[in-house]
Amino acid sequence: MKKFIGLLLAFSGFVMYSCSNNQSQITEPGTNLTKDSLIKRGEYLVITMGCEDCHSPKKMSPQGPVPDHDLMLSGHPASMPLPVIDAAASKNWLLFNQGLTAFVGPWGTSYAANITSDDSGIGKWTEAQFFTAIRQGKSKGMVNGRDILPPMPWPNFARLTDTDLKSIFYFLQSTKPISNVVPSPGPPQGMLGMK
Ligand code: HEC
Repeated sequence: MKKFIGLLLAFSGFVMYSCSNNQSQITEPGTNLTKDSLIKRGEYLVITMGCEDCHSPKKMSPQGPVPDHDLMLSGHPASMPLPVIDAAASKNWLLFNQGLTAFVGPWGTSYAANITSDDSGIGKWTEAQFFTAIRQGKSKGMVNGRDILPPMPWPNFARLTDTDLKSIFYFLQSTKPISNVVPSPGPPQGMLGMK
């Protein structure tokens, strides 16, 4: 009988161990994944989470403007001047340019950043910088730097798991480098007359 109880305890211990082990795999998905599979997951996340909506310049297609994959994730093109900002419209409305890479609102004018692996993108960033940018909304991932402006939805992305953020970073670091120095944000001039 003693032997049986001993065996039972050993068995339940094993079951508990396996369950808690599975548990940790569920809460930390992808922990055992290779770098290649993290890059694949990062690509999947970047595509499905719509980073290209703002970060890729657009080209015309029969369906209307679509992301230009030759310039994938390279941000607002430095060579593309903005149309004149309609002060009356910007008083009551947010303005988006037609490529969805430049934005005017109460925060001023913001431009989607270059997030390719080029030096003018995030090529020189460390993983820690990327985490600071997305989790704390800090430009260039600098803790003491300026806040990242709208409409970058970083407060949503801040809730991604460490593994997902790491995957996105690895994927961005693996992208084709595209040199493009995005303009600095402009002051909130378009909001004249706003209370
Ligand atoms: C609705 C538009 C929009 C979407 C969608 C978007 N971004 Fe952004 N993002 C921006 C804008 C605009 C900026 C630059 C804001 C600024 O200058 O402060 C930015 C900035 C960034 C920065 C900081 C770059 C720097 O140089 O400091 C990173 C990193 C970034 N985005 C990554 C992403 C990723 C990854 C996704 C998808 C998961 C994404 N963004 C989706 C608009 C967007």
